[in-house]
Amino acid sequence: MLEKNVDFATYAKTTPDKNGYFGTYGGAYIPPQLVEEFERISVAYQAICKSSKFISELRRIRKEFQGRPTPVCHCERLSNSIGNCQIYLKREDLNHTGAHKLNHCMGEGLLAKYLGKKKIIAETGAGQHGVALATAAAYFGLECDIYMGEVDIAKQAPNVSRMKLLGARVIPVSHGLKTLKEAVDAAFEAYMGEFEDTIYCIGSVVGPHPFPMMVRDFQSVVGIEAREQFLDMTGELPDAVVACVGGGSNAIGLMSAFLNDPVKLYGVEPLGIGTKMGEHAASMTYGSEGIMHGFNSIMLKDEKGEPAPVYSIASGLDYPSVGPEHAYLHDLGRVIYKTASDDETIEAFSVLSKLEGIIPALESAHAVAYAMKLAKEMKTGTILINLSGRGDKDLEYVIEHYGDRLGLK
Ligand SMILES: Cc1ncc(COP(=O)(O)O)c(C=O)c1O
Repeated sequence: MLEKNVDFATYAKTTPDKNGYFGTYGGAYIPPQLVEEFERISVAYQAICKSSKFISELRRIRKEFQGRPTPVCHCERLSNSIGNCQIYLKREDLNHTGAHKLNHCMGEGLLAKYLGKKKIIAETGAGQHGVALATAAAYFGLECDIYMGEVDIAKQAPNVSRMKLLGARVIPVSHGLKTLKEAVDAAFEAYMGEFEDTIYCIGSVVGPHPFPMMVRDFQSVVGIEAREQFLDMTGELPDAVVACVGGGSNAIGLMSAFLNDPVKLYGVEPLGIGTKMGEHAASMTYGSEGIMHGFNSIMLKDEKGEPAPVYSIASGLDYPSVGPEHAYLHDLGRVIYKTASDDETIEAFSVLSKLEGIIPALESAHAVAYAMKLAKEMKTGTILINLSGRGDKDLEYVIEHYGDRLGLK
């Protein structure tokens, strides 16, 4: 794709436009009864979240409760095992609750409090967003309902217990493929019946406007910290930045700080077990333009044009669409989208554990897998990976399905 004439120095202030469009992607395709409520959230977001009171409160929470800033660390042994290219990690696994998701959940929870809402509601795939939201609900004293597909409930049992312990209701979703897409459908339907007292805290940079913008802004703390930390550590910017892409929040969070820099940006999608429909969830790589869950983006479709069945070893990545900003940055040629298969991901999961003492989330292991390939190709230079979460939640699943291969049984 050709790089179009976009001024990335002013990009964050001008994108999306006032109707929530990133180029032709985004918008708010919602039932008429929700239009007013979404406008209210949009206006409140601009008025409240940009106030110094809100910002200083969120800063204090990030420092005292979340444990931010999370560090950047150099992976010396991993880098040496590949060659001369130096790999670094932004350690979102060390953010409270073990993933980047808490960054937007605390922002959304604080906004809910300012708006006088009593309850927050959401879907979850891997359970990380659900745990983060349940944590925010406990912190702010809000009720919390989390919708989760039955397949993911079975796969991510420890996170289900965590959400319950934190006081959330976990509501199983048993239709369709019983994974993330169906959980979003169910959460949205429930929200329509109770939006007056409730706010829907979407789990990524997806959904109707203003959510893709709001979640991006709350996640941008990752990139702001990482850019400064990397400069401080090395005196330079990284040559490449790599992040996994499900809906795309950890990727946007890190990349937003580097859009105006001479840094290559790579988003990594899940290739699962193959390129046929139902074998992967690589929306940007194999999808086409379409509307789902209230926003226009690039999505995977079946023969009838409906959202296609998707699969990934990582529950947090198996979503048949992608945040509208990613679709836009792809068209602009500013971010390059690549894939990592289940097998490559399992290899990276094992290698990072053994060489660096860091067990990554299976979602994040996709980024590590691609970065390892990229490091071989680049030969020299530096790569910064967003290690979006820790892998404890995945251990049981990995032992059951890959235990023999990894020598864990
Ligand atoms: C650790 C981790 N990384 C990445 C993702 C993918 O989400 P996103 O693409 O919004 O960062 C998830 C989703 O659950 C996750 O738990």
